Amino acid sequence: MLIAGNWKMFKGPQETRTFVESFRPPESVDVVLCPPFVSLESAVGGPHAIYAQNVHWESSGAYTGEVSAEMLLEVGVQGALVGHSERRQNFGETDEMVARRARSALDAGLGVIACVGETLEQRESGDTELVLKIQVEAIAYAAGEHEKLVIAYEPVWAIGTGTTATPEQAEEAHRFIKGLIDRPVLYGGSVKPENAAELLAQPSLDGALVGGASLDPDSFAAICHAASRS
Ligand code: PGA
Repeated sequence: MLIAGNWKMFKGPQETRTFVESFRPPESVDVVLCPPFVSLESAVGGPHAIYAQNVHWESSGAYTGEVSAEMLLEVGVQGALVGHSERRQNFGETDEMVARRARSALDAGLGVIACVGETLEQRESGDTELVLKIQVEAIAYAAGEHEKLVIAYEPVWAIGTGTTATPEQAEEAHRFIKGLIDRPVLYGGSVKPENAAELLAQPSLDGALVGGASLDPDSFAAICHAASRS
């Protein structure tokens, strides 16, 4: 089981240090923390893998506001998220950009958690599988079934809303994704200590990508404990 915490734009270096000091997950679970760029150096060096929340495809260049895989490796970061729906929706990231980010990061030696997921409108119009197919195939075409690649299924309508996919909806989507690419698939979207066990009991869920509930060390540890029991 892999449980990743996406802190989004929360926790500067000081809060990051405080979190790491009190966070005690069970050893049987692989934990990844994804702090903001400026807090990465405060988080590395501990027992948990530290991933950035994004990574550029070039190693250097005129790309204001971007950070390369080589720079992340230099500060001890082990991987990066790519294609989070907040990047796709708010910052115009396309499938092609997400695929290039994934491919370059893997080539540089980073792990990658590549996010995919449908909007509510797409689900309601029956397009979930089509959307997942397009998003996953773009990543698979660029990166193949790389051993350091993990997919995260995050239905956009479940992110930060308090509404999770039902375990059955998650299982169905995960099974569909695994039919497209033979890699572990994490579920993300309002995962909390109260619902983690039921979701992670589904056979095709290989872990979780947690946003809001990863900001508190006790609630994130509780999710990790639920994962260690499933
Ligand atoms: P959430 O976010 O757990 O707060 O819904 C998940 C994510 O955005 O990765």
